[in-house]
Amino acid sequence: MTALRWEERVQRGAHPVAYPAIRALRRLGPVVRVPGIGVVVSDAATAREVLLDTEHFSKVGPGAPSDLWTPVLGPSVLLNMEGVDHARLRRTLASLFTQRAVRELVAVSVPEALSSLPGRLLAGERVDLAEETATIAGTVICAMTGLPPTDSAVREAMAAAGSVVGLVRLHRHSLTASQVRHARAVLARLSAPARAAYRDGDPTTVPGRMRELGLSEDEALGAVGAFVLTGTETIQSFVPRLVAIAADTGWLDRLLDADPTTTDGVALRVRVVEEALRLTAPTPAMLRSVRADAAVGGVPVRAGDRVVIATISCCRDAGPFDPTSPADAAVRHLWFGAGPHFCLGMPLALAQVDAVLDALRSVAVAGRALRVVDRSVARGVLIPAYRSLTVEAA
Ligand code: HEM
Repeated sequence: MTALRWEERVQRGAHPVAYPAIRALRRLGPVVRVPGIGVVVSDAATAREVLLDTEHFSKVGPGAPSDLWTPVLGPSVLLNMEGVDHARLRRTLASLFTQRAVRELVAVSVPEALSSLPGRLLAGERVDLAEETATIAGTVICAMTGLPPTDSAVREAMAAAGSVVGLVRLHRHSLTASQVRHARAVLARLSAPARAAYRDGDPTTVPGRMRELGLSEDEALGAVGAFVLTGTETIQSFVPRLVAIAADTGWLDRLLDADPTTTDGVALRVRVVEEALRLTAPTPAMLRSVRADAAVGGVPVRAGDRVVIATISCCRDAGPFDPTSPADAAVRHLWFGAGPHFCLGMPLALAQVDAVLDALRSVAVAGRALRVVDRSVARGVLIPAYRSLTVEAA
């Protein structure tokens, strides 16, 4: 119960009005039309049907992500594309997200931040995991954009990503002209080194690799922008919430004891992480525009309508946090989406989670236990998160 109470606070800190409203809709039915918002889906099986039906539902069109991001990033950045062009770009980018590629990216970009963590904890320091996660996510952005990961570059990269993602609100279908100007200016600053890295063509950098893969400069910079928007706040949100949920449910010791070099250890870690992803659903909603008249869970929709998948309700309602029972098939991985837009960055997300858990595990290996000693929730953010989560080795 403590875990759920804290999760409620995290959600309400971010969305004091929208979150309770979206959750209350479930009582009216699995699919409900809400004027000004769209047709809201709270049921996992129906959500999956919408995400897989690209004939009727699209990320391009009125009320879809294209309305938000095309004016900022241009028309070809995966999350505002459909059809063969989308499939081709995904195929091209896939090699950046193989297990090997993401583990190398994480290993190269975050060793310093992570390697000092066990020593500091074991020396008795209290550590803010929200701050540590921001350093890790910011360092990964630096690696993606080709910025040298100095402390200030890492902080600025995180602030830049947050200031753009934070512009989005569910009740507004697009950004205002001044928000678009702000977002373009921020991303232009962030992608300046990516442009230089692309032009240099050094395949050890992500933009250089993209050039080698045959992407044009615009495609490469658009992809970098998309990665920054989709892959930063989600990690910042998830890692501290994972640790908090594991602590609040009595699973933290088992999670950190689990040896990731053994089959059982991997299986336990995967189940705890998946359950925490299900409970938190760091991307709380997914948007689609209706391309052609259809029905969603029996509710008729017209071309141009907006469908809002309330991922948080679809995932959360599958039951209490329980890593011992098998994942419900309708819900499994829905927190990463489904169909052609399934999260491209999932391997990178999981590699960052593993890197943090490996670092925290050193506390368990030294015979100590990790405890959450203080926390506060973030307010006014798009992706619900802890502002701070302080831990210590007991
Ligand atoms: C816990 C962390 C993450 C969660 C929960 C998450 C969740 C999601 C979801 C739900 C979608 C599908 C959206 C839709 O269909 O409308 C998505 C798409 C995407 N994600 Fe993630 N994501 C995470 C981390 C990342 C990271 C680290 C990256 C790194 C680059 C990333 C890159 C992307 C991209 C590029 C897409 C768009 C794919 C497409 O449209 O083809 N994500 N993510």
